[in-house]
Amino acid sequence: MRSTDNNAWQPTSWQVRKAQQQPVYDDAAQLERAVADLARLPPIVVSWEIEKLRSHLAAAQRGEAFLLQGGDCAETFADCESDHLAKQLKVLLQMSLVLLQAMKRPVIRVGRFAGQYAKPRSADTETRNGVSLPAYRGDLVNRPEFSAEARRADPQLLLRGYERAALTLNFIRALVDGGFADLHHPEYWDLGFMRDAPLREAYERIVHSIGDALDFFESLTGQRVGDANHVEFFASHEGLHLLYEQAQTRYIARQERWYNLSTHMPWIGMRTAQLDGAHVEYFRGIANPVGVKISAGMSDEWLQELVAVLNPNNQPGRLTLIHRFGVKEIEQHLPRVIEAVRRTGQTVLWTCDPMHGNTETTSAGVKTRRFENIMRELDLSFRIHRELGSILGGVHIELTGEDVTECTGGARGLTDADLQRAYKSQVDPRLNCEQALELAMLIAERSKQST
Ligand code: PEP
Ligand code: CO
Repeated sequence: MRSTDNNAWQPTSWQVRKAQQQPVYDDAAQLERAVADLARLPPIVVSWEIEKLRSHLAAAQRGEAFLLQGGDCAETFADCESDHLAKQLKVLLQMSLVLLQAMKRPVIRVGRFAGQYAKPRSADTETRNGVSLPAYRGDLVNRPEFSAEARRADPQLLLRGYERAALTLNFIRALVDGGFADLHHPEYWDLGFMRDAPLREAYERIVHSIGDALDFFESLTGQRVGDANHVEFFASHEGLHLLYEQAQTRYIARQERWYNLSTHMPWIGMRTAQLDGAHVEYFRGIANPVGVKISAGMSDEWLQELVAVLNPNNQPGRLTLIHRFGVKEIEQHLPRVIEAVRRTGQTVLWTCDPMHGNTETTSAGVKTRRFENIMRELDLSFRIHRELGSILGGVHIELTGEDVTECTGGARGLTDADLQRAYKSQVDPRLNCEQALELAMLIAERSKQST
């Protein structure tokens, strides 16, 4: 059955479909109460912000803006504290500044934050020393410690997650409004531990050139540059836990549409993009801009049908396709999927997630990613889109403003042996601040060469 057969969409319509990756709760009444409580709480974002983001994404689709989407693989409740959040904001700001200066087009900043608490897992259970327990599915569901108590899916965590999301966005909004993100004062965002001297110097040159350009313009015109002292940030997360998403879905009478007000831009992960599945059914009914991860296992027909179901009116900015093939498979699959979408006559925003197709396990059993593979996948993405007359309008990166050692390579040449030093992620390995900034500089360099 096609997802569009039933047009009487409701936030609960997905419940008759098969929902992958949902936790099993042992107390239905408790769950129902938590979802009802969540549905009564005020929204985290509002519809006009969502519409604004959609119009920015429409510009990115035309090549007039560039989407920088990034943040933790999984936020944790413990990381909902000022230092971690300020650092996330800083590294995204720094990267966006580097991209802005090179690309000469607006950079749309979308964090993987304020709701990135639910994770898909490859197995429902985890076994250690002969004991099997439910897998850790993110702080919205259960806790990572390996005990029956910690791994029990607890409905109260839905409320705790919503509260953390609201606290996170509240702090980010306050920082941004308070001038933290003022392009006149990029020194505020200095992360301090950029040790690689050439990288630091290159970054400082960019910062100065932007400061000089702003000063020049402002002294010439006698006016402050419009948005320069107030950059925008938007929130996004994987729309995985459908009861959480459903509870924050509201009908906005003025717009005559349903919105998911838990975030600006939810996306469908690779494991939940089935055409007849619950996630696609839920996502087709909300008016937010939505993303879908695209992997090698997705056929042309599947992709074409997704585009038709998720964006039947070909609305600009509505649909972002986030390809994540990995460096080994991108050349085989990206041209195919670009052509498949082209044949639908629809336009989408293409972005590249160079992280999730490049995860590997070291001989010591540690999950990592190599900087060179991440960069190479990005290079190939830019090249293939350009050769096919398509536009790569953004990147999707797992990163942290902290000085972790989770991905190898980069300017400081981290090796497998360094991974044990500061590996903090419970799930996927993230670029650290220095690697993230280096990536932005390399993208910036390539984009200069190709124009
Ligand atoms: C993620 O973005 O953290 C993720 C799980 O990605 P994917 O769905 O592409 O595997
Ligand atoms: Co991840």
